[in-house]
Amino acid sequence: MPETPPPTILVFDSGVGGLTVFREAKTARPDAAFVYLADDAGFPYGNQPEDKLIARTADVIGAAIARHAPDLIVVACNTASVIALADLRARFTVPFVGTVPAIKPACAQSRTKRIAVLGTQATVSREYTRALIREFASGCHVALVGSPRLATYAEAELAGTPATDVEIAGEILPCFLDEEGQRTDTVVLACTQYPLLAERFRRVAPWPVEWLDPAPAIARRVADLLRERPVAAVACTQTIEFTSGRTPPPTLKKALAAFGF
Ligand code: DGL
Repeated sequence: MPETPPPTILVFDSGVGGLTVFREAKTARPDAAFVYLADDAGFPYGNQPEDKLIARTADVIGAAIARHAPDLIVVACNTASVIALADLRARFTVPFVGTVPAIKPACAQSRTKRIAVLGTQATVSREYTRALIREFASGCHVALVGSPRLATYAEAELAGTPATDVEIAGEILPCFLDEEGQRTDTVVLACTQYPLLAERFRRVAPWPVEWLDPAPAIARRVADLLRERPVAAVACTQTIEFTSGRTPPPTLKKALAAFGF
């Protein structure tokens, strides 16, 4: 009987943030053929109107389905997931795994019952996110912090033009609340670019907190959805595409090489 080939997994983001999900997915499926697609021509998604983003993700992902016939698509972007995932699932038959703010685990693990959700302005202002809070955050105070600049700072970090500590601190400080000694102890990284800045966040944070990165949970979901296709004894393949068609500059090239590209 012919062996089933390893699955093709498309990992999609507006930029390089989805690499933080990709590296976990690769550990979960070390045999897969990965295609990483960065819609850098449409970056940043965080400032775009909802209808435009729904149409854009459908176009870009639809074209990628035609090119690569993936078995699974990971939308490694909170903004695209909270706005467009329902539409993508209705439009295409390929299974999707989304990335949405990890509010439930954050509330479960918080000892002070004070958490913050740090994401793009689009992600934190969406009804989807508010519904997660209503459903999973009872008894827990949730500060929604929309950052207009952090995703761009993360892209710049990988491209070799890092933002200053003062700029980064200015974006994360609203997460840190101290109400009569009850301090925020958990911050949900609700934008896939942010784990790229995790070390810098730790350095400038006014006090230590847990920074919750949803990537390992997403990777478990990927493995679970592909469980019918046993992991083959072959090394994964990985390619990266930018919708701008650009060749990455040398510093970004070096950063991508660290992710195996
Ligand atoms: N990677 C995206 C996210 O997780 C957003 C960055 C952007 O394009 O604004 O929300």
